Amino acid sequence: MIPDKLNETEIRRFIPTLDMPVCIDVLDCIDSTNSYLKRRPSSERIQICCAETQTQGRGRFGRTWYSPSGENIYFSARFRLEGDAALLSGLSLVSSLAVIHTLKTFLPNAPLFIKWPNDIIWQDKKLSGSLIELIIGHHYTDVIIGIGINVNADTKSHAFNEKPWCSLYDISGIIHHRNAIIGHLIEHLYHHFIQLTTSGLEPFLKSWETVDYLSGRETTVLSQGHTITGEVMGIDKSGRLVLKETESQIHYLSSGETSLTLQNKP
Ligand code: BTN
Repeated sequence: MIPDKLNETEIRRFIPTLDMPVCIDVLDCIDSTNSYLKRRPSSERIQICCAETQTQGRGRFGRTWYSPSGENIYFSARFRLEGDAALLSGLSLVSSLAVIHTLKTFLPNAPLFIKWPNDIIWQDKKLSGSLIELIIGHHYTDVIIGIGINVNADTKSHAFNEKPWCSLYDISGIIHHRNAIIGHLIEHLYHHFIQLTTSGLEPFLKSWETVDYLSGRETTVLSQGHTITGEVMGIDKSGRLVLKETESQIHYLSSGETSLTLQNKP
């Protein structure tokens, strides 16, 4: 089976129940789908951009996101929040849950996990990552959620020694339809975003526990220039990582300022 070309009409076939107007820009090549949406004027409509390839795909902490043409998903969504930006606390976790719920539609039995705050992991290899950026206006906040999913990439021919990665093709042995995945992703992402901004993180906590990759593991974190090693005890009600250094020293870490190294890989 040949991978599908990205196509707006095809994507729209998979969002029949979305009750919000959505603008979908499908591009052959762009510097970064996040940067593209950042340059667009604000809108009350949901804005989506996806591209066959990115020349300057961006990851967290200034890293580059490898974006070979025609194989994977490079996707960004821009949503407007009229309320207080504090309602967005936990957004990176909730976006990752939306990715997991999307992928479960296509791979119901695959053991997928989230490495806090937003790496999707299969067999200790990275399948997907996301980059969230905010644009603060006078009376609203625009949120850009950028998601990269390795779909049909041949990961063996392009190995990154430091950062093991995998694709949906590695998991299932079949070529996947990117337009269908993108359609489902738009639905899940939007509904998760609405639930987070109306009800907070609480409704997602049970779901998080079932996919938490780090819980119970020895981990070293670099946070605000300090290195701390301890056991991960899950997340708290606002989505911070709970790290037990000693019985009396518990740290609560926010995602923006923390990078992680696992001590004992399973
Ligand atoms: C990470 O894991 O470091 C985040 C990776 C985010 C990559 C996606 S690909 C689509 C969107 N556009 C970008 O430039 N980055 C995000």
